[in-house]
Amino acid sequence: MRATTLAAGGLACVGAAMTIAAFTAGGDEPVRTAAQPTAARDGLAVFIAQGCGSCHRFAAAESVGPIGPDLDVALTGKDRADVERKILAPTPGTMMPEDFATRISPPDLDQLVDFLLAAQ
Ligand code: HEC
Repeated sequence: MRATTLAAGGLACVGAAMTIAAFTAGGDEPVRTAAQPTAARDGLAVFIAQGCGSCHRFAAAESVGPIGPDLDVALTGKDRADVERKILAPTPGTMMPEDFATRISPPDLDQLVDFLLAAQ
């Protein structure tokens, strides 16, 4: 009984997540970002590898994450230093991870910020 209930709960969650994703992506394939590992170590690959798209909507990465700010909007008018600071030292107490400084190497961070700014 318990297993059945859990399974049903899980399915309901998946269904809800898909509904939200399909709605926010306008019917495009919302999961493509996660399933698209790029061979090149470019900014998109870093964005995907670090899971940024699970929290942030960002058109250039085709991500629709609903938790953090929409980066297409939030990055408008920001310069390189601003964006780096937001990634390395986010507002404490939010869901933005605070350990990217240790998880992203400096060259990868450069590529990531290039990628984020290129879409502005
Ligand atoms: C677990 C969810 C989560 C993940 C993963 C995440 N973020 Fe965030 N992010 C947030 C939240 C919540 C905020 C808002 C708080 C803040 O501004 O610090 C935020 C803020 C930001 C901001 C500042 C936006 C503004 O309003 O100026 C940037 C830039 C950003 N994230 C980029 C990234 C990048 C790049 C990655 C991947 C390396 C990433 N985030 C991963 C949740 C997340």
